[in-house]
Amino acid sequence: MNGRRTPVRIVALLLAVAATGTLAYAFSNARQGYAPRQPILFKHTRMAGAPVWQTNEKGEQVNVGGFGIPCLYCHTMPYKGRHSTLPSTAVCMNCHSTVGLNKEWVLKMKEYWDRGEPIPWVKVHDLPDFVYYDHSAHLNAKDEKGNPKLPRTDAQGNAINVCENCHGKVEQLDIVAVQNPFNMQWCLDCHRKPEMKASTDCVTCHR
Ligand code: HEC
Ligand code: HEC
Ligand code: HEC
Ligand code: HEC
Ligand code: HEC
Repeated sequence: MNGRRTPVRIVALLLAVAATGTLAYAFSNARQGYAPRQPILFKHTRMAGAPVWQTNEKGEQVNVGGFGIPCLYCHTMPYKGRHSTLPSTAVCMNCHSTVGLNKEWVLKMKEYWDRGEPIPWVKVHDLPDFVYYDHSAHLNAKDEKGNPKLPRTDAQGNAINVCENCHGKVEQLDIVAVQNPFNMQWCLDCHRKPEMKASTDCVTCHR
């Protein structure tokens, strides 16, 4: 990124916007709430949520809640790279070659596996290509004292999952939906917080 080329890029971006007339989009909430239908009804509540024990009619304890699988078991990359990555079907089959074989959606998943096809998950979050975003830069960001910049607690001081800062409580969603605006204003609102000391230069996100 040298200083002379940078303005040219931003001007090009502005011209492209002028041509398509979509600047308002940078401030719109068009993404929030987006929850596309997935090829398999994969429920984060069931896989990543907290367990809820109930006694069934036979007097046995059954978990009708979640199995508490850690986010990083399936989304392996967020501390290491730009993308968080979705799990391959092999990860699901670690358990599902033996578990849940009486469940409709598990059987459907096995059909993809047997055909050797990846599950065609539909992207939920999908920023335009002219925006640069990097998970690892966010999750590893530390202040001068070496403490992580992104909060690991809520306003009441209770521990939260760091992903929650942007994605909300995914483990409580049957179907993942975009929980925040994910527009330029939203990114900048956090970058401008004094404790974040994150850059607001155009080239940070448009490079
Ligand atoms: C058992 C594996 C598994 C676990 C555990 C898991 N996920 Fe997922 N996650 C998936 C799969 C599969 C998808 C794609 C299907 C979907 O969007 O529902 C997904 C989708 C997502 C998406 C949307 C991706 C996109 O397209 O934009 C987010 C965000 C996400 N997960 C966050 C989390 C967080 C946060 C946790 C921990 C609280 C978590 N996941 C735990 C498997 C998992
Ligand atoms: C660590 C083990 C484990 C992994 C990994 C795992 N699951 Fe599961 N899954 C379970 C268990 C246990 C159940 C509950 C089975 C039951 O109720 O009979 C389950 C249930 C399900 C169900 C049925 C939910 C319902 O209640 O209708 C679906 C669909 C599912 N899993 C999809 C997936 C997908 C897709 C992946 C990979 C992204 C995955 N699972 C990874 C253990 C796992
Ligand atoms: C600072 C905000 C922020 C935090 C914190 C965050 N994400 Fe994301 N996440 C994003 C953005 C922005 C995107 C969309 C990236 C794109 O479209 O290029 C995204 C996309 C994703 C996706 C879709 C695949 C991808 O990488 O594009 C998954 C899965 C995901 N995040 C999981 C997680 C998990 C798991 C955590 C916690 C370990 C997490 N995220 C923490 C902002 C965040
Ligand atoms: C919850 C707060 C928060 C949100 C929301 C957020 N960021 Fe950040 N961002 C940070 C922090 C903290 C840093 C690291 C600052 C440092 O330590 O240099 C950062 C750094 C960055 C960097 C620099 C990464 C690098 O490689 O140097 C980029 C690019 C970036 N953010 C893009 C985005 C985009 C795009 C969005 C919105 C889609 C966004 N951020 C939303 C807090 C946030
Ligand atoms: C922290 C990250 C971040 C910074 C810093 C940033 N932007 Fe953006 N910008 C975004 C995101 C995210 C979008 C995508 C908005 C959308 O599609 O909803 C965007 C979109 C845009 C668009 C296109 C709007 C459209 O409707 O297509 C323009 C033009 C733009 N930014 C210019 C700038 C300029 C000029 C600066 C410096 C003054 C700047 N941006 C700084 C994150 C950033």
